[in-house]
Amino acid sequence: MELPYIGLGTWDLRGNECTKIVQLALELGYRHIDTAHIYQNHQAIKKAIKDFDRRKLYITSKIAVDEQVKVAKPEESVQKACEHALKELGTDYLDLYLIHWPDRNFPLEKIFLSMEKLVEQGKIGKAGVSNYNIHHLEDFRKANCLPFANQVEFHPYLNQKELLDYCHVHHIKLIAFRPLGKGKLLHEEPLFDLIGEKYNKTGVQVILRWLIQKEISVIPKASLKKHL
Ligand SMILES: NC(=O)c1ccc[n+]([C@@H]2O[C@H](COP(=O)([O-])OP(=O)(O)OC[C@H]3O[C@@H](n4cnc5c(N)ncnc54)[C@H](OP(=O)(O)O)[C@@H]3O)[C@@H](O)[C@H]2O)c1
Repeated sequence: MELPYIGLGTWDLRGNECTKIVQLALELGYRHIDTAHIYQNHQAIKKAIKDFDRRKLYITSKIAVDEQVKVAKPEESVQKACEHALKELGTDYLDLYLIHWPDRNFPLEKIFLSMEKLVEQGKIGKAGVSNYNIHHLEDFRKANCLPFANQVEFHPYLNQKELLDYCHVHHIKLIAFRPLGKGKLLHEEPLFDLIGEKYNKTGVQVILRWLIQKEISVIPKASLKKHL
């Protein structure tokens, strides 16, 4: 399945609340669920997706380098971390697996190459990164590593144009986390609602459209039905 333009962010959702919100999101038509080892909600998501046709879902998770990777044994620890995530989520494969953040204390290129082995094994669809700036991506490029996607904070008040242009040139998909500025863009800035009024849309729709028109996928977190 291709990376959908809209997904559900699940940071800070845990337990039954997480299960219920993911189920509701699926009912409303969401197909992309974004999670990570450190969100501690894989098992809650497993409950929500267990009766859903897996082929119609796009699941992204992230490896926590400092917690899950042993510097001396990167390949073995990446394999173990992925298998752990698969078991927790109750699935045979992840669509996308990301290195959660760059950390030069770890052999990141080796970790990425280990993730590409997971692609060969069919355990993940694509390997990518998160929180990477251009210089991190340049390190990767020089090591012949081409991440499928880079998930970064991106919204109208953090318009990372240079990074976006770089990603377009190098065919790396950009995924915007915190697209609503953690909700702050809505609560503290009337501009987006004002623009929305002109077009009969909400401020949130204006912000998400601004991102999607730049070919950026978005993963806003929402817990209320009307927000979903
Ligand atoms: N890769 C990384 O390092 C990284 C870092 C941070 C986040 N992320 C991912 O990105 C996702 C999104 O980021 P985020 O959760 O920090 O912030 P966000 O999506 O920018 O904002 C979430 C906030 O916006 C509110 N909201 C959502 N839809 C709304 C609507 N239609 N009207 C009004 N308010 C609305 C939510 O309220 P309610 O909950 O009350 O609905 C919540 O308080 C995370 O959940 C996570 O999956 C990744």
